[in-house]
Amino acid sequence: MARELTVLVLAAGRGTRMRSAVAKVLHPVLGRPLLAWPLAVARALSATRRGVIVGFQAEAVTKTLPAGFEAVLQRELNGTGHAVLQARRLFAGEGDTVVLSGDTPLLNAATVRRLLADHRRRRATVSFLTARHADPSGYGRVVRDERGEVRAIVEHDDADAATRRIDEVNAGVYCFENRFLDRALGRLRAANRQEEYYLTDVIAAAVRSGRGVVGVLCDDAEEMLGVNDRVQLARVHDVLRRRVLERLMRAGVTVVDPASTWVEPGVRVGADSVLLPGTTLQGGTVVGARCRIGPHTRVRDSRIGPDSVVADCCVLEEAALGPRCRVGPFARLRPGTRLAAGVHVGNFVETKKARLGAGAKAGHLSYLGDAEIGRRVNVGAGTITCNYDGYAKHQTVIGDDVFIGSDTQLVAPVRVGKGALIAAGTTVTKDVPAGALAVSRAPQKTVAGWADRRRALLGKK
Ligand code: UD1
Ligand code: CA
Repeated sequence: MARELTVLVLAAGRGTRMRSAVAKVLHPVLGRPLLAWPLAVARALSATRRGVIVGFQAEAVTKTLPAGFEAVLQRELNGTGHAVLQARRLFAGEGDTVVLSGDTPLLNAATVRRLLADHRRRRATVSFLTARHADPSGYGRVVRDERGEVRAIVEHDDADAATRRIDEVNAGVYCFENRFLDRALGRLRAANRQEEYYLTDVIAAAVRSGRGVVGVLCDDAEEMLGVNDRVQLARVHDVLRRRVLERLMRAGVTVVDPASTWVEPGVRVGADSVLLPGTTLQGGTVVGARCRIGPHTRVRDSRIGPDSVVADCCVLEEAALGPRCRVGPFARLRPGTRLAAGVHVGNFVETKKARLGAGAKAGHLSYLGDAEIGRRVNVGAGTITCNYDGYAKHQTVIGDDVFIGSDTQLVAPVRVGKGALIAAGTTVTKDVPAGALAVSRAPQKTVAGWADRRRALLGKK
């Protein structure tokens, strides 16, 4: 039978070095809180119990926890050892406990699985991951004896000059045998520079009692990068961003300029699509095959059908586009926009809660809000749906094959029947029946010779 496994994620700290009013683990990384990344690792492990230690801004942090995680409150922030101690009841009895840090987002689940397998095979009491860092400052240093066996972890603040020169650091990822962990935590003392109960002191305690302690050096130091300040936050952000882009590129997506392209991890993009420089794809966005997006376009929580083009500088939010649509440049599709196949939405067009039927066109300078627009409708330049009367929003319904001339206002609620024609410059205030012409215009007056006479009067050429 598999041994019981508990996974704990430490997330109670304030993150003083961030110099922020917001808890460190809540700072966003590619659209998710920093904490979400280690939680994904915790979720990928087959554990019986999963706990997150919360403290600073506990309520806000707890809100971000997905199902299956129990929040454990650390009332006073007395260090990482004290933090783990609060979750004591989650690792009572036989089994092992994996501890992860809420501020180490690059870690892969596979790396933790290897650590755990190794820990169990060797029947170790404590196993932990280490890495070599060119600049180890800030991290706990791994002190080994002449045979290479781990003796202790010494925190940066408590280390002397010789210890500070050690470049092997504690990554903050551990496996503990439960009974030992429970006993050792109860005996921790806060006799150090920070006057905190260090989880890392459990390692020296295990060594002293002659138990198996294994420090596993990881080749990929990048995976172990922790976030303590905003410089490190930017660094891990960049690594995660590149990981997502590389996955897309390997799956057949062209990313013209990876340095300026931002794609969040939940986004899907079909093969042979091209992301032009400055493109940002967020949330649950799904882009079909053979699309062209950007440059400098942002798409959030939207679906874009195959063979579509969303050109320069567009913003799409909660919009759904069928196949072969052409959008932009400079279009803004707001929530509730639904474009059927082959729709064209051109420059300086804004849509909101608007459905456009197959083959409909709105080429230039329009606002289409709360509108139902039929198939093959031509929306002329400068058309505005006047959907708001200062109190409520009203619906505009336009039938198939309607032609709307330029500079038309549709004062909602209003309906235009199939195949009708609205003359340019019309303010539509009454429903228009199918097949009709609607025109509302002051009649044009033409005065022959007027301009010439004026010029003569003013003595101009
Ligand atoms: C810690 C390790 C250090 C290691 C480094 C790796 C200790 C004493 N030191 O240092 O050896 O090299 O991580 O990144 O463990 N936390 C709590 N409650 C507390 C204090 C901290 O939950 O009372 C949480 C924090 O929110 C954070 C994690 O524990 O997610 C680590 O705390 P942090 O203060 O960042 O420790 P480091 O100084 O980075
Ligand atoms: Ca840290």
